[in-house]
Amino acid sequence: MTGMSGRTSSIWMPEKGLPGYAALERDAQVEVCIIGAGIAGMSAAYLLVQAGRSVIVVDDATVGSGQTGRTTAHLSNALDDRYFEIERLHGAQGARLAAQSHTAAIDRIESIVAKEEIACEFERLDGFLFVPPGESPQILEREQQAARRAGLIDVEYVQHSPFNSFDTGPCLRFPRQAQFHPLKYLTRLAEILIECGGRIFGNTHVHRVQGGAKAQVTTRNGQVIACNAIVVATNTPVNNRLVIHTKQAAYRTYVIAAPVPKGAVAKVLAWDTGDPYHYIRIESPLNSNTDMLIIGGEDHKTGQAVSTEERFSRLETWMWERFPLAGPIQHQWSGQIMEPIDALAFIGRNPMDDPNVYIVTGDSGNGMTHGTIAGMLITDLILGRENAWEKLYDPARITPKAVTDFARENLNVAAQYAHWAAGGDVSSVEDIAPGEAAIISHGLNKIAAYRDEAGALHERSAVCPHLGCIVKWNAAEKTWDCPCHGSRYKWDGTVINGPAVSNLTTAVHAK
Ligand code: FES
Repeated sequence: MTGMSGRTSSIWMPEKGLPGYAALERDAQVEVCIIGAGIAGMSAAYLLVQAGRSVIVVDDATVGSGQTGRTTAHLSNALDDRYFEIERLHGAQGARLAAQSHTAAIDRIESIVAKEEIACEFERLDGFLFVPPGESPQILEREQQAARRAGLIDVEYVQHSPFNSFDTGPCLRFPRQAQFHPLKYLTRLAEILIECGGRIFGNTHVHRVQGGAKAQVTTRNGQVIACNAIVVATNTPVNNRLVIHTKQAAYRTYVIAAPVPKGAVAKVLAWDTGDPYHYIRIESPLNSNTDMLIIGGEDHKTGQAVSTEERFSRLETWMWERFPLAGPIQHQWSGQIMEPIDALAFIGRNPMDDPNVYIVTGDSGNGMTHGTIAGMLITDLILGRENAWEKLYDPARITPKAVTDFARENLNVAAQYAHWAAGGDVSSVEDIAPGEAAIISHGLNKIAAYRDEAGALHERSAVCPHLGCIVKWNAAEKTWDCPCHGSRYKWDGTVINGPAVSNLTTAVHAK
């Protein structure tokens, strides 16, 4: 379905929409306040409630409405950044702990699914890592050795993947990976949380986070949640103005899904080592006589692509070349990935903050396992239990071997401020066609202008309220995306992704 445009919707989204939760309407008191009802926040909430803690979860929309609803839900310990790289950055022990923690996260999801009898299509399967055409498979040998040193001794070098419509060439087979339906899992976790006395408030936008002896979370509408500990699980922290944002970068990743005859494509996870890379999985929807082939990739830095829509066309081409039996595309969507400079998520106490404020961010493309690790690790930190992964994921860590990546990321961010000096995309709003948008210069002001399908013009300031970069139009999602740290806004300027916590302001026209 080339040409599908506008806001996109993932394959996981139920037709009738996700269950909603009432907004917080009065002040509250609780032991732990969790901001963000995605995989990380809900995993922490579930485990804390199981441990007898009182928990409130707040989300500015609803459970699973953020990036967890836009994942492809690979549950994998074959980490995107490769074990040889993790070993280089974090040492042999760090790589072992990384492998152990992702393996433990898959096991934990499996045990929760079994214990709670969650119907979320969890299943174990193999994962295959292959190289793009024309590239040497040497990287696979290197990765196999590093993975084995990290404790994944069953990772095996094989001559082909099980796909029969195209030849991947040699692969690494990672056994005991898994997949599930992320929103069915999360929706049931939320129900269990409430059955166990936890509270969830939707449509509740957090405005201020304050740790310390009188820890409290204040909403945009002024309600206050007094608590002993705060967990910020909002994909990228909305409470940390700068520190953590210098250590990670936001990327958009694109996904398409098309029907294939049942059983025609091997049910495995697969990933290539390309740049940008691709990932594959099969979903078998209940009561359907076809499978769905889900293919993702074509990542780019948020707010820094020339054309976001072109990414979908490239994915389609990639898919048709390899899976000619696939039917017309039925879903396309994109998601946000936070890439840490040293390949592992940041999970733990928020740097330069009070000790009872915890963050989780930097999913690094392994969001489901990193989110589950966060649930386990933050629960242990709050309960005062030892956890062997604490140092590895410490958000305050300094990774000397990542210093070049740190400098590169921050130079890239600095370069984005040059958009202040550039002219607008068009010289007049008359040049903006219905359904399109552009940045317009008005003297020293920059305006983000969108003309809706009915021809009405909507103008906001183009200055990102986080730290002042100029936003860029994302035609595929009809959003304004910030190229500096990944904040995103709806076409009307309403914030939908941190680190910004406020909307694009009113447009000011130069006199
Ligand atoms: Fe930091 Fe926009 S997200 S300036």
